[in-house]
This record gives sequence, structure tokens and C-alpha cells, in this order.
Amino acid sequence: MENQSLDEITRRVSEMYDRFPYPSPEMGTKKLKELSNLLGIFSRETGFDFRGKRVLDAGTGTGHRLLEAALVMKETSFLAVDVSDRPLAIARATAEAEGLGNVEFRQFDLMTESSDLGRFDVVLCMGVLHHLADPQQGLSNLVRHLSDDGIIFLYVYGSHGSHERMRRKQIVSLLLGKDPSAFEHGIQIVKDLEFDSSMYGWNLNIEGESTKDSLFVDSYLNVHECLFESETLFKLIRGSGLDGFMTYGITVDGSGYLFETRLQATQQIPLHRTEMAKKLPTPLLTEGYENLNLLERYRLLDLLYQPNGYTLIGLRSGARNLFKPESRLLQNAIWVDDYS
Ligand SMILES: C[S@@+](CC[C@H](N)C(=O)[O-])C[C@H]1O[C@@H](n2cnc3c(N)ncnc32)[C@H](O)[C@@H]1O
Repeated sequence: MENQSLDEITRRVSEMYDRFPYPSPEMGTKKLKELSNLLGIFSRETGFDFRGKRVLDAGTGTGHRLLEAALVMKETSFLAVDVSDRPLAIARATAEAEGLGNVEFRQFDLMTESSDLGRFDVVLCMGVLHHLADPQQGLSNLVRHLSDDGIIFLYVYGSHGSHERMRRKQIVSLLLGKDPSAFEHGIQIVKDLEFDSSMYGWNLNIEGESTKDSLFVDSYLNVHECLFESETLFKLIRGSGLDGFMTYGITVDGSGYLFETRLQATQQIPLHRTEMAKKLPTPLLTEGYENLNLLERYRLLDLLYQPNGYTLIGLRSGARNLFKPESRLLQNAIWVDDYS
């Protein structure tokens, strides 16, 4: 993208991903199923039907995740955007090679306020917001692209579970010295230190040297990232134009958990979930938990589980009707007006 039109942070982030496209510069390698699994589980749990829906993937990278979802969801139309040339070219070429007719691509900077992408039923912004120059502004820009009953899926880094990665990042930074964009040098330092590339939830089963290099850059040499916890997430949502949000799931080390704030709940989907009754096994602890409001419960879950990432669903008010009142998700929902 024309570098002059980008702010300084976006320019540096984009240059980094052009040199080390995420999650992999290798086209035609195994695609990654995490996103299609997430959307599938969401459909199963809520009955949400993606057929006929318009979906925006904001910051698609090399598309390894989005294209797998588009392959499974043939009756859904996708627009995939990214600011960086090379990842987008890889995604586009892979889609062409697969003969995928339901995905379009466009180069786009999420920091621009333009609304000319159109409106969408669903926006995906996975692993992107925390690299934006101003996540709040970026999210507000995305909310303008949502229909009145639209939902937005976000994956953002968690601060509570990122201590070890941040500690390692600082070691690498000190040894690298003054030029943080000397990525090849930095990669060698990471390798010499024998740091691995699986410090957060979503890097699964990718092989190949150039892919590993991309993952090392993303996790230990990233030029810009910010970390969130429940309070800062709430502030982010409150200032974005969204009416509310719920935490769908968290990642802790390499494992994913559906997010459950209730002490007693019947399990509908056979997947690991947060279990506060196990974390708080005595009547005294349970009573303390029961006295908390939902935002305080979110904070306690943060402190007990220490997530390195959150999968959130941001909501416009019209989206309330998509969920059953007694459902896990609506029970998890934090509405901005309730906490003003
Ligand atoms: C960590 S990758 C995530 C890729 C993909 N969403 C996934 O989950 O595999 C972050 C992507 O966000 C893109 N990005 C960063 N800042 C952006 C901006 N201002 N506008 C559009 N894309 C941006 C980067 O170019 C990069 O491809």
C-alpha cells in the first residue's frame, strides 16, 4: 500500500508483515482450521446460519484461516482485506488456485475512517486489533461496517497470560540492540536461545523454515502489539460504538476453553470450558463469587485462568435477538449501558 498514506506505526507493522507474512509465506501449505472450527461451533451452539450472510475478514493475512472457512461455507460471501501487499497476494493466489468463488480481496487500512467497504452481517478481526496504531479507533471504524444486528468476532492478546512471552521478547530485544527491524538477526537470536514458536493459542501444526521464521517474528519481534484484560477490553468496547460484548472463549497456554461465568450450567457442547465451581470449591468462595457483578466475575476469571488470548463477540443491540436468553453467550454478555 502507498506508504505515504499510512501512519508511522501502521507503516512499520505493514512492512514487517510484508517481509514475514503471517501465518505463513508458503502458499498451498496446509490450511488452518481454527477459524472454521470457531464459526462451526458458534453455529452449533446458537443456531446462527451463515448461509447468505456477508462476512468481512479484517486483517486476513495470508488467508490460511479464512480460506479454510470459505471452503466449508460455500454459501457465505467473504470480503478479505489487509493493509500489507504480500500476505494479500498470497491469499489471493491461494483462493484462485482453490477455485474459490465466494471470497473477494481488497487492500485496505483499518485505520482509515472510510466506510466504502459496505455493511456486513459478520465482521472477523482475528489477531489484528492489538497490532493497530489505535485499537479503539480501528474498532470504531469496523463497527461502521456492521449491520444493525451485526456481530463482530475479535481475537486479542491477554496480558495476564503473556508474561513469559513478554519476558522472552525483552531478552531478544536487549540482545538485538538498536535496530528492531533487523528481523533476520533477531530470528537467529530466537533460535540460538531455543525459544519456540508456540507461545500463544493459535499457532498449530505449521512446518517449514520460512513459516517458523514468520511465527518467530510475530511472537518475539513484533514491532507493535498491545495486551488486554477484562477492564481494558470493556473500555475498548465502550468507546467503539458497540452496545455490548461477550467473551466466547479464552486461550491459556496452548489450550482453548469456552468461557462460562455460571457456577452451574448444563454443558451443551462437549468442549473444555472454564469451571468456576472447581476453582472456588468451598461455600465461602462461592458466596464471594455470587456477590460479584458480571464485569467483576470477568476480572476474577482473568486472575484465576490468566488467558493469553480472548475470543470476543462484539454486539450491536439488534444482535441480542440472535441468542436465547438463557444461553451461555447471553448470560456472558456485558452491555455498555449497564455499567455507565
Ligand atoms: C497476526 S496477522 C493475523 C492474520 C489472520 N487474521 C489470522 O488470524 O491468521 C495480522 C494481520 O493484520 C494486518 N494488519 C495490521 N495492521 C493493519 C491495518 N491497519 N489495516 C489492515 N490490516 C492490518 C497485517 O498486515 C497482518 O496480515
